[in-house]
Parts: sequence; C-alpha cells; structure tokens
Amino acid sequence: MRAITQSKYGLDSLVLSDIPTPKLDSKQILVKVEAASVYAAVLHLVTADVSLVRLFAGFRRPRMRPGQSFAGTVVEVGREVKDLRVGDRVCGTAPGAFADLVVARAKRVAVLPDGVDFDEASTIPVSARTALQAVRKHGGVSAGQKVLIIGASGCVGSFAVQIAVALGAEVTGVCRGAKKSYVRSLGARQVVDYQSQSIKGKFDCIIDTSSSLSLRALRRLLVPSGRLVIVGAAANAGSSNLGRNLAAALLSVFVKESLKSFLQSDNNDDLPVLLEDLAKKRITPVIGKVFTLEQSAQAVEFFASGRAQGHVVVCPTS
Ligand SMILES: NC(=O)c1ccc[n+]([C@@H]2O[C@H](COP(=O)([O-])OP(=O)(O)OC[C@H]3O[C@@H](n4cnc5c(N)ncnc54)[C@H](OP(=O)(O)O)[C@@H]3O)[C@@H](O)[C@H]2O)c1
Repeated sequence: MRAITQSKYGLDSLVLSDIPTPKLDSKQILVKVEAASVYAAVLHLVTADVSLVRLFAGFRRPRMRPGQSFAGTVVEVGREVKDLRVGDRVCGTAPGAFADLVVARAKRVAVLPDGVDFDEASTIPVSARTALQAVRKHGGVSAGQKVLIIGASGCVGSFAVQIAVALGAEVTGVCRGAKKSYVRSLGARQVVDYQSQSIKGKFDCIIDTSSSLSLRALRRLLVPSGRLVIVGAAANAGSSNLGRNLAAALLSVFVKESLKSFLQSDNNDDLPVLLEDLAKKRITPVIGKVFTLEQSAQAVEFFASGRAQGHVVVCPTS
C-alpha cells in the first residue's frame, strides 16, 4: 500500500512510500482512506514545532506515520468486531491516515449517515469534536449568551462558531482581515480582525484557540463569573502554552471567572451527534482545498501558511 512516511521531523521529510499492508488484531478494522484532514495537531506532529510533541511522539524522530482524522470505507474487520461490516462508510481517528489504507480500533470510528461525504466527514473526529466539547461541555454555552471565539476561521474555531450559533448564542469571531467574510458566513454576528482591530465588549464565554492574548486581557473581556475555555495555541505561537494553561487553572481557584484548558476526549458518543448535525446541515465544514496523497507535504505546508479558508483535506483516491 502507499503511505506517507517520515524519518525525521520537518515538512521536507514527508515521502510517499510503498509499505506492507498491516495485519489486524481482533478488535481492529482496515479502512480504505477516502479523505484525511489537516489541522494543527497534524502540523505539530510532522514538524515538532511544539517541543512537547517529542515527549510522546518520539524524541529524535516521529514514531507514528502522519495523518489521524479520516473518513473511508471498511475493507476488513477483526474477529471480535460485531457492529461494523465490510463496505460500511465510516470516520474516525487512527495514526497513519495519510495512506491508501489505515488500521483503526473499531471503537474509534462511527458509521456515516447517508448523504454525508468523505471530505466533510474527515474533519469531524478531531476538529468538530474538540469544538463541541469546548462549546457545550466546558463552555456551557446556551441560548442568548454572548460568546467570543478567538481563532474563528480555524479548524476548531469554525466549528465552534457554528455550534454556538446553533445553540442560540450571539457569536463574535476573531480572525485575520482576509477571512472576515468567511467567518461571517459561518454565522458570527460580529467579526474582529486581529491584525488591525481590538476586541470590545463583555462575553459570557470565550473559546480561545489561538492563545494570542494574556490571561489578564481575556479576563477583562469576561462578565463576572464568565468562562474562558483554552483550546490551544495558533501554529505561529510556537509553544505548547503549558505554563499559561497551568496559570489559568491556578488563577481560577481565586477569581470569580472560570478559566480552564482541556484535552479533547475520544468520547465516541459525540461522533454520532456531530454526524447527525452534519447530515442535517446544522454544521457544514467548508472544504477549502483538496490535495492528493502525493501532495501531503504541500497540504500541510499550505495549512501552515495560514492561507486556507476552510479545511484542508488529503484525498488518496483523487
Ligand atoms: N485541547 C485539545 O484537545 C485540542 C484539540 C484540537 C486542537 N487543539 C489546539 O487548538 C489550536 C487550534 O487548532 P486548529 O486546528 O483549529 O488550528 P488552526 O486551524 O491553525 O486555527 C488557528 C486559529 O488561530 C487564529 N489566529 C492566529 N493568530 C492569531 C492571533 N494573533 N490572534 C487571534 N487569532 C489568531 C487563526 O486565524 P487566521 O487563520 O484567520 O489567521 C486561526 O483561526 C492548536 O494549538 C491545536 O493544537 C487542542
């Protein structure tokens, strides 16, 4: 099978290789990949731009092949897998998704409803699931609330805008000037260009996917007892922002506002909910650009450039 491999960290290290098709254990499935999504964690794992990555992904060189969030068709199932069959259309997460075939744990995938296409579905397991958990579980967003989404044009942020709007919130999005109309099209009532404007007003909840403002500045934008949910740092921030996240947790004990960061949980109950939302068009990922498997390095590079308006997807079958 064809797969993208890398022997060291860096965008220039991705190569298309022929590798043996992996063998399944009894709880795994083999999926023919139709689409694999590109987002910040893919960039972090390919380049180790966030040094913390080396601790769990390999100190000198990456232990895993790139790509993680995918959609495709099941071609083989392990002995103990009861609820999936060959031919099922699924999406989920597994390492090495930039490939013709990927081996996934059956419990890490969900079946696609009719009418959902593979490109869109590949953006759900990481970016949309993170957004759902940020907005609903950690942000506790409800109808009528004012919500600020910093990084509203990004993979997570673009879903967070749509989910918060669907819950009845009034959303202000923050992005670069060139993407203002894109963020408005997602449902944001106001859009702030972080390159030339400052954010004004008070918000019940802030979802921060860029970590570009200090905790002090963010607290000033919250109503008393408002909630700050830190999702991560923009690619160009270059650090894991671990210290900032710890400071938020500590400070939260002493102040009225709730300040927290979280790690996305692989809770599989969220996937069917999001896929239903996708099928019913309550959320719609805009696919900004599609690349072939051979072009995986260009896909990650294009994502890293910040020029993408919408999601970047690698399609091995195109
Ligand atoms: N906590 C978790 O479990 C979890 C899960 C998934 C992702 N993450 C993290 O969340 C972060 C975002 O991920 P992503 O995939 O959504 O990345 P992304 O697609 O690159 O989005 C980053 C966003 O940040 C915006 N941005 C960049 N510089 C900014 C600035 N100075 N001020 C305000 N906004 C700025 C970008 O706006 P423009 O594009 O308009 O410039 C973009 O909307 C990453 O750090 C990722 O590792 C965490």
